[in-house]
Amino acid sequence: MARIYLSVPHMGGAELGYVEEAFRSNWLSTVGPNLVAFEQDFSKRIGLPCVALASGTAAMHLGLRLLGVGPGDEVLCPTLTFVASVNPAVYLGARPVFLDSDRASWNLDPNVLEEALRAKAAKNKLPKALVAVHLFGQCADMDPINELCRRYDVAVLEDAAEALGATYKGRPAGSLAPVSAFSFNGNKIITTTSGGMLAAQDPARVEKARFWSQQARDPGVAYEHTEMGFNYRMSNVLAGMGRGQLEVLDARVARRREIAFAYRDAFADLPGLTLMPQAPYGLHTNWLSCFSVDEAKLGVSRDALIAALAADDVESRPVWKPMHLQPLFDGAERFGGAVAEELFRQGICLPSSTNMSAEDLARVVALVRSVARVG
Ligand SMILES: Cc1ncc(COP(=O)(O)O)c(C=O)c1O
Repeated sequence: MARIYLSVPHMGGAELGYVEEAFRSNWLSTVGPNLVAFEQDFSKRIGLPCVALASGTAAMHLGLRLLGVGPGDEVLCPTLTFVASVNPAVYLGARPVFLDSDRASWNLDPNVLEEALRAKAAKNKLPKALVAVHLFGQCADMDPINELCRRYDVAVLEDAAEALGATYKGRPAGSLAPVSAFSFNGNKIITTTSGGMLAAQDPARVEKARFWSQQARDPGVAYEHTEMGFNYRMSNVLAGMGRGQLEVLDARVARRREIAFAYRDAFADLPGLTLMPQAPYGLHTNWLSCFSVDEAKLGVSRDALIAALAADDVESRPVWKPMHLQPLFDGAERFGGAVAEELFRQGICLPSSTNMSAEDLARVVALVRSVARVG
């Protein structure tokens, strides 16, 4: 039997045509019609101007720079996330401060944010920015988060890498803060093999990011540079993939949700195996089907479940290991309790590829059920 992976690329069919067009027309660099069209289509989708970049991490890096983050600044970030949410702040010489999660959404807890901002204000040292992450396809509760950040004058960057296609109160993920970042790496809901997008409410910020992404070359024929830039632009070939992938985004969202709910229904009679909560304020794409495992009720630990699936060539993973538990961020400041730690201890991500067959899904379900020692 073939290995079942966690989340693999799923082409829609039109991608190769756009890629071939890039070859036919010899637009084989970081300029060309696919880039223009991909950015236009993406802008239409989220309602903001945007620039296509080499990765989501590059988008985060330029995004935080746009918000003025620099050496010695503090940047708030939920502790329960992938390391790429945090590294860009470190690139800029800033210090991350970690915040605990909300059980209702697994995202940043606005109450913990308030506690952190109050404590920082009392010491007259407010953070420069907050990285608001939308985890596993579900938006953080952005209204209270934005309101708190406005009150304390803290800039907000939306890390929508995992949440393209999600909504919050009817608005698309990535349109809820002044600057946002998306990822198209190979495991995301749509992919360009590697790639990212930066969007911003102020078009001047998008143009600044575009300028920085191409080595910050000043206008004119001479290669003159006033500012330091990066080589962060997306390739026109990969933008062709992006165009095709964007055409099937809605179908991918629907299928991710269908998979998550199929697991949920198949495990409905198993106490101790619970789908990540679906917050009432928006549409959760369920980019990954995440469950929490209560060992006492299910009769098997999260790690034993992962091992049993691996023994049968099925890939699953723990949810992200919180940043404050990472050796990389040893000693970093943090606020809140141990919700993120508990979610990490109990959380499992099950295979969620949109191109997995009904047979694959049934195989995962049967495996999980066979190791759950209940009833
Ligand atoms: C939450 C989060 N932020 C940022 C990134 C970075 O995106 P990329 O891999 O495209 O650099 C990812 C994905 O890898 C992610 O999951």
